[in-house]
Amino acid sequence: MAQLGVNIDHVATVRQARRVAEPDPVHAAVLAELGGAHGITVHLRGDRRHIQDRDVEILRATVKTRLNLEMAATQEMVRIALTIKPDQVTLVPERREELTTEGGLDVVLNSVQLKPVVKTLHDGGIRVSMFVDPDLEQVKESHRIDAQAVEINTAAYADARDDKSREAALRKTVDAARLAKRLGLQVHAGHGLTYRNVGPLAAVSEFSELNIGHSIVARAVLVGMERAVREMLDAMGAR
Ligand code: PXP
Repeated sequence: MAQLGVNIDHVATVRQARRVAEPDPVHAAVLAELGGAHGITVHLRGDRRHIQDRDVEILRATVKTRLNLEMAATQEMVRIALTIKPDQVTLVPERREELTTEGGLDVVLNSVQLKPVVKTLHDGGIRVSMFVDPDLEQVKESHRIDAQAVEINTAAYADARDDKSREAALRKTVDAARLAKRLGLQVHAGHGLTYRNVGPLAAVSEFSELNIGHSIVARAVLVGMERAVREMLDAMGAR
């Protein structure tokens, strides 16, 4: 059964709207764990638009489950990761103008740059996951550069407008997940998952972890974080 990683970036987005101290993503992480989250995910962006360095430092000391740090493969972020030592780093592409991560990493195109980053992080005791589109070549290349895991981008599945395209996107996602598992990688999924669309993905046995942010934080604003997490676990069939 897939485990749930709760992405709390949006809690920091609300705080940064006023550049004040509340709401504190550290509090959100505690409540998410009390609700049954198996891990906490944050994306420390180069422009620090939501999560701040201070958040990652305090989360490292307080998260009782697993801390997954999403980041770009830059020198600055590698240095921070090696200092803070999250349980896992998920490498993602990053563009300043984007509202959220827009697609998977092009591991095939950037393997020369990415391979030493994976090695440096892994030598530092950190598991490295590559966020990739459901593309067999990207999965193979992630394995070839010695990543320990892949997170399959579920945006195409989540954004599908009708049953037929949703079914096709799910099939591609499952094919990529099967290949990754056969190659010995841990297999995660995420992006755009909601209470309504998570069921079919959570039923795919290859996935060991789903990372979900927007949908959970949006519900948490109305019903509280603990309940929002419990309801997502119910939707995943994980409770
Ligand atoms: N996985 C990755 C790699 C992401 O970049 C994001 C968004 O930050 C998520 C999962 C969570 O996506 P969402 O907020 O749409 O649930």
